[in-house]
Formats: sequence, C-alpha cells, structure tokens
Amino acid sequence: MSKTAGRSQTRFVCQSCGESFLRWEGQCRACQAWNSLVETAVRTEPSSARRAMASGIDGAVETHRLADAGEADRGRLRIGIAELDRVLGGGLVPGSVVLVGGEPGIGKSTLLLQAAAGVAAAVGPERVVYATGEESASQVRLRADRLGLLAGPAGGIRIAAESSIDRIAGLAIDEPAPALLVVDSIQTATVDELDGPAGSVGQVRAAALRLMEVAKPNGIAVVLVGHVTKDGSIAGPKTLEHLVDAVLTLDGERYAAVRLLRATKNRFGSTEEVGVFEMGESGLREVSDPARAFLAEHDGPAPGSVVAPTLEGSRPLLVEVQALVAPGPGGTPRRTTSGVDANRVSLLVAVLGRRAGIGLGSHDVYVNLAGGLTVDEPGLDLPLAIALASSLRDRPVAADTVAIGEVGLLGELRTVSGLDRRLREAVRLGFRRAIVPRGARGAAAPDIPGLEIVAVGGLRDAIDAALSGGPERSGRVAVGSGRC
Ligand code: TYD
Ligand code: MG
Repeated sequence: MSKTAGRSQTRFVCQSCGESFLRWEGQCRACQAWNSLVETAVRTEPSSARRAMASGIDGAVETHRLADAGEADRGRLRIGIAELDRVLGGGLVPGSVVLVGGEPGIGKSTLLLQAAAGVAAAVGPERVVYATGEESASQVRLRADRLGLLAGPAGGIRIAAESSIDRIAGLAIDEPAPALLVVDSIQTATVDELDGPAGSVGQVRAAALRLMEVAKPNGIAVVLVGHVTKDGSIAGPKTLEHLVDAVLTLDGERYAAVRLLRATKNRFGSTEEVGVFEMGESGLREVSDPARAFLAEHDGPAPGSVVAPTLEGSRPLLVEVQALVAPGPGGTPRRTTSGVDANRVSLLVAVLGRRAGIGLGSHDVYVNLAGGLTVDEPGLDLPLAIALASSLRDRPVAADTVAIGEVGLLGELRTVSGLDRRLREAVRLGFRRAIVPRGARGAAAPDIPGLEIVAVGGLRDAIDAALSGGPERSGRVAVGSGRC
C-alpha cells in the first residue's frame, strides 16, 4: 500500500467548485461552470489510516468517558482581546485551524497582528509565527509600529514573508514549537507540487490541508486569512469552510469605523457571539458599549429615521434605520439600499401601498443602516416600513421610540425572538417606548419597567402609533389596537 505514497498525477480541477476530473471538458459536470477546469498536479497521499497501518501502528481507537471529554477547553490559548476570545468561544484551541474572512482592506491583517501580539504576551513572542505572502516583513513592521506593538513582547514575534506552504509548514515544526501560526493569506499560499496559480481552488485547498496536518499533531493553533469576494463567498476558500474548525468573518463598511466579527462556524464554541470593534488610528479597538455603536448621532428626531432593537446572535444591538423617499423623475423608480436586502425593501414598498395606504410606487427609495452594519433579520421589516412612511409624510418618529417586528404580505405583524432581551437593552439606552406586534402580548409578554409597550395588530396601526408619537404628540398615544 505504501507504494502509492508521493505518486504524482494530474487531474483537472474545477476552479469554481473544486471537483476534479480525469479528463479536460469544456463544462464542469458538477457545477456547470464553463472553462473552469485547470490541469493540476496532485500528489496522491495514502490516507492517515493506511499510513498508520503501513507503518505498523495498530488501528486501536482511544476512547474517553463522555464526562471526561472536553479537554479542548482546558488548554485554550487566550488572546487577551476579549471580543475576539469571546467569538472564538474562550480563546484559540491548540491544534485547530481558524479561517478569518473579510473583504480586502477591512482590517484582517490588523486584527491578526494585534491577536499575535496578545498571544505573544501570554506565551512568549518566540512561540508566535506570522507568515505573510501579502506584505514584506518591513510592511508588517510598519503596521506593528503604528499599532504601538513594537516596544512590547510583540517585537519578538517571528515574521516570515513567505508564500510557500512547505516552508511555512517547516516553521511550524521548528524549535521553539509555535503556539500560534498566522498565515496571511491563504490565497497567496502555494503548494510546490501544484501547477495552479496561487488563490486557485486546488492551491487553497491543498495549502489548508497541509497546514491542518501540521496543526493537529503539534498542537499549534493556525489562523488563516481568506479574502472574501463581493458576493460574500470566501473566494476559493469557500471550499475550506467545511475543512477548518471555525470560520470568523470581519464585516463592516470600509469607510465607516465599526467592524463586526461573527463566527459563522465554530466547532469549539457558539456561533451566536459577535465581537464589535472600531477601526481607529492605532488599530482595532474593542467597543465597550456595542449596543449603541450603530446609532447615528443627530440633534433631534428626523423624518425617515427609526431605531430598531436587533439581535446579533445573542447580543442586542440598537440600529438606526434611515429611509429617504423622493418623487421619481418618471421611468423605473430607484430602490437603493445599503445594509438591508433590496428585495425585502421592494416587498415592503408593495405591502405599504396595498395594505397601509402609503403609495411609494413612483417614488425613488433609499434605505441605509447607520454605521455600515448589515442586518438580514425579518424583524427589521417594521422599522423599515415605519421609516419609509415617516419619510413620505415628512413626520419624525419620537427619538425615544424603537420598533421591531416582521411584516407579512397581508400587512399583518409577527413578533420576533428574544423580544424581552432586545427591549431591556433599549430601556438601558434610554428608550421609553416600543412599537411591537400584538402577538407579543401572549404568554411571553415582556413587562419592562420604564418602557411603554405599544402592541399593534397591523402595519397601519403601527405607522399611526409611530407617527403620532412625534414631537407634535399630544399626551399619550391611543391607538385602536391598544397597549400593554
Ligand atoms: P488591513 O488590516 O490591512 O486590511 P486587510 O488585511 O483586511 O486587507 O487594514 C487596512 C485598512 O485599515 C487600511 O485602509 C488602513 C486601515 N487602518 C486604520 O485605519 N488604522 C490602523 O491602525 C491600521 C493598521 C489600518
Ligand atoms: Mg491584509
């Protein structure tokens, strides 16, 4: 069986889905992409089980009592950046491979250099290796200087401007054994035996597999950087998502300061956690009160602005939805959105027209979330609809009001999960009134001191309640649907 070891063959690997074929074809049979097959040299390695048998190790599997399992937590490597440690589930697990994705320029290298510095402070800088195929060592030094890290233990981090994965893997088995190996980025890493260009599916997969082979047995935490394409997939590395132990994505508007770090997959922790950072002059800073990070600052209530208590994973974030509607010049009206799904906005425009008497059919519509956040939860429907109505009628919603709820095609409202948690956070930040679907008055009706809850049955009532609560509001609201 060991005869097959290291034998080189060529395969035709689809650059779009990673499937491989023995012969070239014009169209990939797996994903139907055209002209995507690239001849690639592959080294057929015997599987680890076969290797073990070939080298005479018996295949006995070690078992643990379930109650004694869970060693993973004990040896976690704390980075010392609380937001990052939390998203990881308590720190890096030795032997695991984490993929950090994000658009170019969003701050991945900055975050990882800061993380490397954190680990260096904990385990000693000589046990941290930062391999970069993106930048030269002096560029990384410049960044470290800007981040104010050079004077501290991070000055001793081992840096390698290297893209050959074999040489990077070689560093991993060097003495002293690294605790953390950062590879920035997986798209610049190349495996020597492969012909394909750096960043191709074949290269990216082979590079990640090679790193996993060194990470597990040596107990090294490996962090890979992966650039994300416009459509949101981690280009090429999309095929890595199922291989690696955790996938974190760093999100945000490039020209806004706030960055969200989410775990989209985590074998060692929850995917409910988000980390909130702010990009400043000297790197990423943790945001101490993330709930208000996405609230725009303006003097008073403005027409078209509604605050929504959203939930990111398990964390309540208050987000300001902004809408502007303007009579269109004729032709097809514009629907321009940032941070929310444009189709959802089109649907809300239709529902508003048919079910709430808010005709926006010939208006241009612009929708934006303050702070560059992207939210795709259905609970944003109601604040969006109210913001559109508020802009059309040029009537502001009171600055102390929040709204949350899903809107159905009939104009009916549905409640959202975690309502209690969202509303408590709203009260903490000084909001005094919440417009929520009436369904919320069921068993789990939140009763929150200091918050007036306006429970409404339909979209029309919700808009009446919201817009009558503006500055001209006289006394308390009295909506047909009543209040809790
Ligand atoms: P970078 O970490 O290089 O992004 P990525 O690795 O994801 O491509 O960050 C690039 C941007 O961040 C760049 O536009 C400059 C900005 N930046 C700051 O605003 N402050 C800083 O302290 C640093 C290091 C970068
Ligand atoms: Mg970078």
